[in-house]
Amino acid sequence: MITPETTPFSKTGGLADVCGALHKELGQQGHTVKTFTPFYHCVGEGKNRPSDTGKRLDVSIAGKIYKGEIWNSGDVYFIRNDHFFMRHGLYGEGGKDYEDNALRFTFFSLASLEAIREIAGKTDIIHCHDWQTALVPFYLKESYAGDSCLGSSASVFTVHNLAYQGLFPKETLKKIGLGWEIFTPSKLEFYDKLNFMKGGLVFADMLTTVSRGYAREIQKSGTGCGLEGLLRERRKDLTGIVNGIDFDDWDPKKDNMIPANYSPSNMTGKAKCKAALREAFNLPDMGDIPLVGMVSRLDPQKGFGLIREAEKKLAGLPAQFAFLGSGKEDIENYLRRLAKKFPDKIAVSIGYSEKLAHLIEAGSDIYLMPSRYEPCGLNHLYSLKYGTLPVVRATGGLDDTISNFNKKTKKGNGFKFTLFSSRAMLIMLRRAIDLYTKDRKTWLLIQKNAMSEDHSWKRSIPEYEAVYKRAIKKKQQSS
Ligand code: ADP
Ligand code: GLC
Repeated sequence: MITPETTPFSKTGGLADVCGALHKELGQQGHTVKTFTPFYHCVGEGKNRPSDTGKRLDVSIAGKIYKGEIWNSGDVYFIRNDHFFMRHGLYGEGGKDYEDNALRFTFFSLASLEAIREIAGKTDIIHCHDWQTALVPFYLKESYAGDSCLGSSASVFTVHNLAYQGLFPKETLKKIGLGWEIFTPSKLEFYDKLNFMKGGLVFADMLTTVSRGYAREIQKSGTGCGLEGLLRERRKDLTGIVNGIDFDDWDPKKDNMIPANYSPSNMTGKAKCKAALREAFNLPDMGDIPLVGMVSRLDPQKGFGLIREAEKKLAGLPAQFAFLGSGKEDIENYLRRLAKKFPDKIAVSIGYSEKLAHLIEAGSDIYLMPSRYEPCGLNHLYSLKYGTLPVVRATGGLDDTISNFNKKTKKGNGFKFTLFSSRAMLIMLRRAIDLYTKDRKTWLLIQKNAMSEDHSWKRSIPEYEAVYKRAIKKKQQSS
């Protein structure tokens, strides 16, 4: 696997959780897996500090040689070049992308391929994630076709978020050592810009994305971010596989980051978590009203526009809100103002905190995720496991995994609205609050449904295995 981030070493979002857990689970199923990822500043700070393998790389880009070192922690290998990666952020700082991101991730992609040769040797599958690694399938086809080691490797490219494509001015081509012959609509050109993501979408043997719903949405105009035509052309090679969650990290029965553990058969710990959450967020005790939580990257994707539109009505509901997030400065500032306006009802913590994220999952009654679009989403899946019922918009992975309660069949695990509007969100939120307040028996039933669902990786691994097999077959047929 080649990925720009992976837990427990580096993380800006769900991609890291997915790569860390997918590696682990594939390994447990008997596959030999090695992950290649950059050595960022944060990598040296964690528990599992990597050590130097002593192996060195020379990567030639546009006539210049860039040096790389290979470090490792178990089967995770780090490409180290301090000029490129030893910075505060992974992709940027203060809301601005690093100017040399195209060169940084070209270096990373080429260095990873060289490192695979050194460390892994002949490899069946090279699985890449998101635009930062999307040139790998391109290089495999264009530069490594006859290579004795990597020439027979098949490539799989996973889209975690099509909105981030790695778009650069066309002049970047020269800086990363590529010629104009690849600047065509059938290769890496996109509306007169260089598009890294197309390296994966055009050249990988197989494509996946992180839910069936999102696989359908990205083939439609409006939700395909301009790449819908290409994705439709490749629809036979595109599979939607929903993300799993890692129960070693996210399980209220054994979570050591929360003040009290609990399980479907004994929920008393959840009340303690709720009290601790209220205290941590300085919310007054207003009796038995529901607490609504949210942990999120602060980005318009996540539906903060709806919260802004509905703020007065939200604050008027018989509920309290605890939001944790970091990201776009305007949303951070807006949430700070919101908490000041309604101090008894809405509390906000701006920043990144694993501990608070776990406390919100455990201590909330309701989890709000009104995303404009959501390739998969992980927090609503954590919420199910913690008996924190999700209120979500029906899009991508949220639509695939959440269903409204059906009184007749007694099935359902949450609350789902379709229109991206504050009105639709409020109706569903009110329904959830009403049920919590007036019909605790049904509430408990939905909680039990949610907590007993299996969203582990075990379910998704066979689907990845099927994709890997098809990729190998395709590769063999084409060579
Ligand atoms: P995305 O990758 O689009 O941000 P996901 O739902 O797939 O959304 O994954 C987000 C991951 O990042 C989850 O593990 C979530 O708990 C974590 N996360 C997001 N914001 C924060 C934060 N402020 N503090 C701690 N964890 C966060
Ligand atoms: C992206 C998506 C998110 C998904 C995650 C992991 O960041 O925005 O929906 O869960 O990748 O696949």
